[in-house]
Amino acid sequence: MEELLKNYQTVQVQEVLNWVSVGNTVDFPENGGGCIKYKSKQVAVYYFKRTDSWYACQNLCPHKMEMVLSRGMIGDASGIPKVACPLHKKTFSLEDGGNLNGEEYRIATYPVKIEDGIVYIGFAD
Ligand code: FES
Repeated sequence: MEELLKNYQTVQVQEVLNWVSVGNTVDFPENGGGCIKYKSKQVAVYYFKRTDSWYACQNLCPHKMEMVLSRGMIGDASGIPKVACPLHKKTFSLEDGGNLNGEEYRIATYPVKIEDGIVYIGFAD
């Protein structure tokens, strides 16, 4: 299980070595998530229509190691964009990956940029 988690490390925008095109903006649901694969990672990508903002994080929920976060419920916690795991509702900040229930679990987040209608996710590998 630890091995699975090691595959996911938060990438800050200044650490990006590789912007990977993952599809057109219209391929992703509004106010919902999609899942893409990069090397051995599954990454959840979300579009918040109200704020016209994009976020990406590991698809792996660290609670029971399930690949489910792209199917989670997204929303806002006092201005912090968040996703709640569809299985047991543990909730994570999409800004820094911290758990918003005050628990130890964290998720890796990745920078997203949009250029000419294409979604790019920033990776450091
Ligand atoms: S598997 Fe995600 S909260 Fe339990």
